[in-house]
Amino acid sequence: MNATDFLVRKDQLAVTELRETPESPLEDGRVRLRVEKFALTSNNITYAAFGEAMNYWGFYPAERGWGRIPVWGFGSVVESLHPAVAVGEKFYGYYPMSSSVVLQPVRPSPEGFFDGAEHRAALHAVYNNYARCSADPFYTPQTEDVQALLRPLFITSWLIDDFLADNNFFGASDNGEGLMLLSSASSKTAYGTAFQLAQRQGIEVVGLTSAANLEFCRSLGCYRRVLSYEQLDQIAADAACVYIDFAGNAGLRKTIHTRFTNLKYSSSIGGTHVEQLGGARDLPGPRATLFFAPAQIKKRNAEWGADSLGQRLLKAWQGFVGTVCDPAAPWLVVEHHTGPDAVKAAYAAVLGGRGDPRVGHMLSLAANSSA
Ligand SMILES: NC(=O)c1ccc[n+]([C@@H]2O[C@H](COP(=O)([O-])OP(=O)(O)OC[C@H]3O[C@@H](n4cnc5c(N)ncnc54)[C@H](OP(=O)(O)O)[C@@H]3O)[C@@H](O)[C@H]2O)c1
Repeated sequence: MNATDFLVRKDQLAVTELRETPESPLEDGRVRLRVEKFALTSNNITYAAFGEAMNYWGFYPAERGWGRIPVWGFGSVVESLHPAVAVGEKFYGYYPMSSSVVLQPVRPSPEGFFDGAEHRAALHAVYNNYARCSADPFYTPQTEDVQALLRPLFITSWLIDDFLADNNFFGASDNGEGLMLLSSASSKTAYGTAFQLAQRQGIEVVGLTSAANLEFCRSLGCYRRVLSYEQLDQIAADAACVYIDFAGNAGLRKTIHTRFTNLKYSSSIGGTHVEQLGGARDLPGPRATLFFAPAQIKKRNAEWGADSLGQRLLKAWQGFVGTVCDPAAPWLVVEHHTGPDAVKAAYAAVLGGRGDPRVGHMLSLAANSSA
């Protein structure tokens, strides 16, 4: 049988190729999973944009010049030469944009396993973990798409909110309501963050977005105010504020650091504005600081213990999913793209970034899949 891989040129992310190769015979201790379906959002484009600098290309190596973008999704075991992993079991985790993948389970437990492939040993453990759906408290069969689309993003959102509260919003709310300014407010990670922040006292959550996405952001109901990138002058220049940057837009960052004389903290989360990314040197105000989610996980694990942290995350996730999937006003509408051509087209749309922010794209390269 053949495997299909979706490849992108590392230096030209718009150049893609679908490659079919015969599946190699399985070695002892390995398992082959059919990649049932996976989500594709700007987060995955950011993995590619920072693929060299942050080693995202290292998870699924490809031939020189080409990369395989990692994605979050579900896979089912179709072949197993590992005693702790059975054919038919389903796992949530970090997959390649491919129809199948071979993994090398290590540290198996009732909850899942880690991929022990040598080339992944130096990469962060959170990405090497595969959660057994039958034992995963986050898993429900009806919410698979929402899990693939939002779970990894929401965990970051939750940690950003927790980090800011843990640091007393860097003093922004000491003398009245501090403003939390979120760029790319229409992104899923930003609105997950706003959802959490909106439950806090003493702050005002302000969404910044492109003109086309103003109405969508307002419809979410978690931003007290939503402004376009051109409307920053509607916020007092001396307002105490924190910048939570999902766009990574160098020009916007500079404008914000220059305009807001009482900017207390500047947190760099992502880079959705792939064409306007740039360095953050020589800016007025606080240093733009990369948000490192694993550091906050480590801190809370030490303070609360892993179980307590897991329970808090699960509770918050359930509250979020309930709101996102509210049939009366869903925040997310899932679109399925099955097969090589559909995957290619969906990738081009997400890379272009001008699609409907309400849509979440679920993709599949596996034969006979309904994504
Ligand atoms: N540091 C971490 O641990 C971490 C974890 C998760 C996510 N993130 C980052 O958070 C960001 C958001 O990810 P997501 O998956 O939530 O995004 P998403 O939902 O796919 O975001 C879509 C939005 O991003 C903006 N956008 C996307 N592509 C664009 C383009 N080519 N040009 C201009 N604007 C574009 C638009 O927002 P606007 O019109 O509102 O600007 C668009 O509505 C990503 O950069 C991701 O890497 C970081």
